[in-house]
Amino acid sequence: MKDFNYYAPTEVVFGEESEEQVARLVKKYGGTKVLVHYGGNSAVRSGLLEKVYKLLDQGNIAHVSLGGVVPNPRLSLAKEGIELCRKEGVDFILAVGGGSVIDSAKCIAYGVDFKGDVWDIYLGKAEPTCMLPIAAVLTIPAAGSEMSEASVITNEDGDVKLGYSNNMARPKFAIMNPRRTFTLPPYQTAAGVTDMIMHTMERYFTKDDDMDLTTDLAEAVMRRMKTAVFDVLKNPEDYRQRAQIMWGGSIAHNGLTGCGVHDDWATHQLEHELSGMFDVTHGAGLAAIWPSWARYVMHENLSRFVRFAVNVMDVPNDFSNPEGTALKGIEAMERFYHAIGMPINIKELIGRDVTDAEIKEMTRKCSRDFTRTCGCLKVLKAEDMEAIYRMARH
Ligand code: NZQ
Ligand code: ZN
Repeated sequence: MKDFNYYAPTEVVFGEESEEQVARLVKKYGGTKVLVHYGGNSAVRSGLLEKVYKLLDQGNIAHVSLGGVVPNPRLSLAKEGIELCRKEGVDFILAVGGGSVIDSAKCIAYGVDFKGDVWDIYLGKAEPTCMLPIAAVLTIPAAGSEMSEASVITNEDGDVKLGYSNNMARPKFAIMNPRRTFTLPPYQTAAGVTDMIMHTMERYFTKDDDMDLTTDLAEAVMRRMKTAVFDVLKNPEDYRQRAQIMWGGSIAHNGLTGCGVHDDWATHQLEHELSGMFDVTHGAGLAAIWPSWARYVMHENLSRFVRFAVNVMDVPNDFSNPEGTALKGIEAMERFYHAIGMPINIKELIGRDVTDAEIKEMTRKCSRDFTRTCGCLKVLKAEDMEAIYRMARH
C-alpha cells in the first residue's frame, strides 16, 4: 500500500445560510483588505456579488474588485490582478465563482509578493515561497479548486494551459450554498459532474488494489454523482441533489479518494491541450478523451475496469469474459455521457474533425516538446498520447 499524507485544511461552510459568515471568516483568516475576484455575469445577475460586498461593508472590511475571469482563465487578467493587489495593499483574495475564478485567484495570490514573472511558476522554472491567503464562495461544483492545491492557467501567448500545485494554495475557507447552483445551465451542470467523476476516476484507475476503503469511497462518490445529475437536470431547483453534487465536487478533489493509491491524471493532461487549443469546457473535454484513454490502457489492470463496470456502471459480470465486461463498462460510461449531453469524442466536442496537424501540436504540447510522459496506470509516451488523440477523433 502506498504511504500517504492527507492534508485538507480548508474550512468548509456549507448550506443555505453559509454566505452570511463571509466577513467573520475573512477576519478569522487575517484579511483586512480584500480583492473580490469574479467571472462574467452570473454572480452579478444572481445578486451574490452585491450580497458579498454588503456583508464585507457591514464587517468593516475594505475591498476592491476585479471581474472578467473567463473559463480557462487567462494569465493576462491574473497579471492585472497582481498589479491591482500591489497598488491597493490587498492582503486577502476572495474568489466568488467556480474553478476558473478560484484558479485565477490562486495565480494572483502567488504573484503579489513574487519577484519575477508568475508564469515561471507554472512553467516549473520557479517556486513561490509565500502567497496571499485565498478563499472561495463557490457557485459551480466541478473543478474542486475550493479545496485543492491546484490551479490551471491559460497563457494566451501560444494557447498554453498549465497547472501548478502547492499545498499553500488550498483555500482557507470555502462557502458553499447549493441554492446558488440552481441557475447553472444544464451543460455546465453536466460538465461539472463529468469533471468530478473524472477526478475520482483519475485516482481509481490505478495498479494499487490494496486500499479497499479508498476504492469503496470512490465508487460511492461516482455512483452518487451519476444519479444526482439526472435529478438536477430534470429539476434544477432540487436542493437536496444540488447539495450532493456540491459536496461531491469537493470530496472528489480534496485528496480523500486518492489516499493510499498512485493516481494517474493522463486524461486531464490530454484534455488540457484540448481546452488550451479550442477553449472548450474542461469537463466536456474530459468526456471526449476518457473512453479512448480507457480502451487504450485497460489491459494494465483489467480487473479494475471489470470492477468499475460492475460496481459503478451496473454491468452484469460475465466471469468468462473479463475483457468484454470491462468494455461494456466503458460503453456504459459513453451512454451516460451522451445522456447528460456530453461528447464522447473530439468531433462531438468541437463540432468538426480535428486535423492531423492539430493532433501533432497537442501531442507536442502534452509531451512538453517530447520531454515528458504522463499517466501512471500506463505511462504514456508521446506516441501513446498521439494514438489516444487519434482514437478520440470521432
Ligand atoms: O463567468 P460566469 O458568468 O460566472 O459564468 C460561469 C462560466 O461561464 C458559469 N457559472 C458559474 N457559476 C454559475 C454559472 N452560471 C450560472 N449560475 C452559476 N451559479 O459557469 C461557467 C464555467 O465556470 P468555470 O469556473 O470555468 O467552471 P469550472 O468550475 O468547471 O472550472 C473550470 C476550470 O477549472 C480548471 C479547469 O481546467 C478549468 O480551467 N480545473 C481546476 C482544477 C483545480 N484547480 O484543482 C482541477 C480541474 O481538473 C480543472 O483542471
Ligand atoms: Zn478536472
